[in-house]
Amino acid sequence: MPLVTTKEMFKKAYEGGYAIGAFNVNNMEIIQGIVQAGQKLNAPLILQVSAGARKYANHTYLTKLVEAAVIETGLPIALHLDHGPNFETCKSCIDGGFTSVMIDGSHFPYEENVELTKKVVAYAHAHGVTVEGELGQLSGIEDDVNVSEEDASYTKPEQVEDFVTRTGVDSLAIAIGTSHGAFKFKPGQKPQLRFDILEEVSRRLPNFPIVLHGASSVVPEFVKQINEFGGALDDAIGIPEEMLREAAKMAVCKINIDSDLRLAMTAAVRKYLAENPKHFDPRQYLAPARSAIEAMVMHKIETVLGCAGKA
Ligand code: G3H
Ligand code: 13P
Ligand code: ZN
Repeated sequence: MPLVTTKEMFKKAYEGGYAIGAFNVNNMEIIQGIVQAGQKLNAPLILQVSAGARKYANHTYLTKLVEAAVIETGLPIALHLDHGPNFETCKSCIDGGFTSVMIDGSHFPYEENVELTKKVVAYAHAHGVTVEGELGQLSGIEDDVNVSEEDASYTKPEQVEDFVTRTGVDSLAIAIGTSHGAFKFKPGQKPQLRFDILEEVSRRLPNFPIVLHGASSVVPEFVKQINEFGGALDDAIGIPEEMLREAAKMAVCKINIDSDLRLAMTAAVRKYLAENPKHFDPRQYLAPARSAIEAMVMHKIETVLGCAGKA
């Protein structure tokens, strides 16, 4: 099976009350860890590449690694551009084999977001590629964009029908209280998601796939392990997994997870090197890092996404 778009995946996910995991990939071990988990649990996958990942690892290397994952596993896998910053980057990914792109115009004024998204949709659809748009702004850091808490804003439900109709997007990322990175809430602050906004958005957009960014839970076990072996992530707090599971049963069909993979991988490397100070073969510490990614993705599929057996 070649790479797939998100169209069929989202239709099934919406009807089945589950979500697909969209995992960020930056190198071979991350890709292998994710797809090994998908294979063990027979789960569909979205592998997503940010502009930063393209800069770090190179478009062709990442595309070929993902194509290798499809050949090796036979799983339905979509290759997606995460937070496409402009038309040119989206076009380059569409021309270069991606099956799905996000155009993130959320930080532009509304009309500019509509125009930019519409332009990307026209090009993408002419090439059989699906498009994710975004309304509302999450706080946190993605690439070089750093959105402060004051500038973050919830999605306005009264804008969603107009945005989706005028742009023709296939899915919509919304802001309901998630945020990028490992420090999503202040110490002592109670994690909360605006389920009322999600409900109102899905009432206005029946059968339409919604996307949640910034959905890592900052799994305490890995934070503890990082801190135990020389790290300093005491204040890291994520979104409780049961809240995300709830969202996945609703209109949320795609849940973006990057930070949890980073934490799992870093925890494994820190532990290995601390326990084996004389080892220096990268394969020795990258193998447990890859296994940690696999375990994390299996955990997400079973606990948060509910997409085991849906490939
Ligand atoms: O939302 C952003 C993702 O976590 C990707 O992060 O831009 O550092 O690759 P990055
Ligand atoms: P996290 O930082 O919560 O993993 O979010 C990742 C994300 O939204 C990628 O687009
Ligand atoms: Zn994101």
